[in-house]
Amino acid sequence: MKITRRKFIRFLSALMSFPFLYALNSEVKKKIESDTHKEKIYLPDDLGNGTFFLNPVIIVKESTNTKAYLSKCTHLGCYINKVEGDKLVCPCHGSEFNLNGEAIKGPAIKPLEKLAINKDPKTGKIFVYA
Ligand code: FES
Repeated sequence: MKITRRKFIRFLSALMSFPFLYALNSEVKKKIESDTHKEKIYLPDDLGNGTFFLNPVIIVKESTNTKAYLSKCTHLGCYINKVEGDKLVCPCHGSEFNLNGEAIKGPAIKPLEKLAINKDPKTGKIFVYA
């Protein structure tokens, strides 16, 4: 059997693409696993106005407007657990976020991840996935 230069180059190209395909497959698997393993977190029925930490979720409730954010800081991933006035403060390096989740003081520059608020159609209870 004769191997032409063209066949050899094709074979070499296919061989070289395996690590890339393997890495791509691993990343896709990680993304799917992280999306499907989210926890359902219910908000208390009697939640008043204010800012609340339901680890790993931050709930900001103002009258009929309720917002939810993942409490994971967008700098290096520490969990935000402190509110000072109308600012959410990261305990690790002092990043601050306003109550809309926007970074207002570094080192973090990206906003907090906003979470969708859902209503259970059977019970009427409010929950988020985090
Ligand atoms: S991890 Fe939050 S400021 Fe660095």
